[in-house]
Amino acid sequence: MSSTVFDLVIRNARVATATDVFCSDIGVKDGKVVQLGAGLNQGREEIDACGRVVTPGGVDAHCHLDQPMQAPVRMADDFDTGTRSAACGGTTTVIPFAAQAKGQSLRAAVEDYRQRAEGRAHVDYAFHMIVSDPTPTVLNEELPALIAEGFTSFKAYMTYDDLKLNDGQILDLLDVAREHGAMAMLHAENAECIEWLTRRLERAGKTAPRFHAHSRPMLVEREATHRAIALAELVDVPILIVHVSGHEAVEQIRWAHGHGLKVYAETCPQYLFLTAEDLGIDDSYHGARCVCSPPPRDKANQEMIWNGLSDGLFTVFSSDHAPFNFDSPEGKKPNGEEMPFRHIPNGIPGLETRMALLYSEGVLGGRISLNRFVELTATNPAKAYGLHPRKGTIAIGSDADLVIWDERDLVLNNAMLHHAVDYTPYEGMQLRAWPATTISRGQVIWNGKSFLPARGRGQLLSCGAPTLMPHPVNTPVFLRPFSTESLSQELS
Ligand code: URP
Ligand code: ZN
Ligand code: ZN
Repeated sequence: MSSTVFDLVIRNARVATATDVFCSDIGVKDGKVVQLGAGLNQGREEIDACGRVVTPGGVDAHCHLDQPMQAPVRMADDFDTGTRSAACGGTTTVIPFAAQAKGQSLRAAVEDYRQRAEGRAHVDYAFHMIVSDPTPTVLNEELPALIAEGFTSFKAYMTYDDLKLNDGQILDLLDVAREHGAMAMLHAENAECIEWLTRRLERAGKTAPRFHAHSRPMLVEREATHRAIALAELVDVPILIVHVSGHEAVEQIRWAHGHGLKVYAETCPQYLFLTAEDLGIDDSYHGARCVCSPPPRDKANQEMIWNGLSDGLFTVFSSDHAPFNFDSPEGKKPNGEEMPFRHIPNGIPGLETRMALLYSEGVLGGRISLNRFVELTATNPAKAYGLHPRKGTIAIGSDADLVIWDERDLVLNNAMLHHAVDYTPYEGMQLRAWPATTISRGQVIWNGKSFLPARGRGQLLSCGAPTLMPHPVNTPVFLRPFSTESLSQELS
């Protein structure tokens, strides 16, 4: 290896992985990390990291790009603008969703999505599937075939009229995940309770954006989280609960861990940095910007989420980037009008800000270690969705997806971002770091000032089986009234 001519050498890096921090040069050839150590040979290109922290490129395992919506609503970001924005924020792999419409074949949904991405992405990408219509053909033929082809994860919804599944349908899907080794992601909110509350609020004339949070209190998330855990226990399969917002759902996940169940959990920046007040303290429409589900809670719940990030409860930290313009008939004002909260498209942008927010407030704010930052933003998402060790780490043979961090004070504003959305919910926030350089498979695509377009360079990744370790069982281990192991034996 001593005679290797590197394409790129990054000198004097403080390399951070999920387990270590060490000083090293990084030698890159053909898009891969091929050598780590001091005093590497000259590369064709050289970057002096000057002792700065270098982490693996972020893996954003929950974002929505160019996902078909019901007209007139349309996502502002496609694979071009979405992956551009990701790159400038230090994310080098995105996993958005190929969403099946009811009545549509799952294969057709994946093929359509493949075409939407083709030739447009600046960084690598994989797809989760959203299964909204688990017909016998989907369960017995399409889904197993797609998992075998490298689409090894899917999301099931317990809410939203056009996507929600009943418990029996979720059980059927979990059974396929178990049989074929896929990762099932669950959106846990109780649809019936939300509808009941929404109608009551509407009857009382309470339709301003802030009432979105009243229609989805934590109880509805807690109940659905518990139910999702119970369904997974019955089938005896790991699940990943997405976008956990506060303490009642956290309690359910801690309970599951106490019972030795393989329940993984994700949280997102909106549950650390926003509260329900961001949806409005009066009836103004401004708060539509922060309408997302589950809604942000309060300061005390933010602390609960921080605790779960630092103590290992959460496995992944994703953006849940769902890009709708605020001032647009295709976005938060469907048909150009201020709508009752029921009709406001759910979701907020966050692909570009995810990494810097957690680095600033988490690492530099002293709440989580640098290793934990890497684990949450890159290593674990890559493991959960079968992309590790190609993605999510800095190791010999891994893709040279790297971020060099610049620890400096800055004020976040939408004008500095590269998405196609007309706002950021974090406008004016004080940050303490931003990527100085983002490298995707050995190519610099963000140099701290300019985005260096690499349109069409992003590759569709084939995912393997999840490789996450079971969550350590917390003490005390509660006694279980019956064993699902014996139940699944009886059923098989
Ligand atoms: O409000 C949200 N989270 N919108 C995106 C869709 C989803 O449920 O993740
Ligand atoms: Zn969701
Ligand atoms: Zn989402």
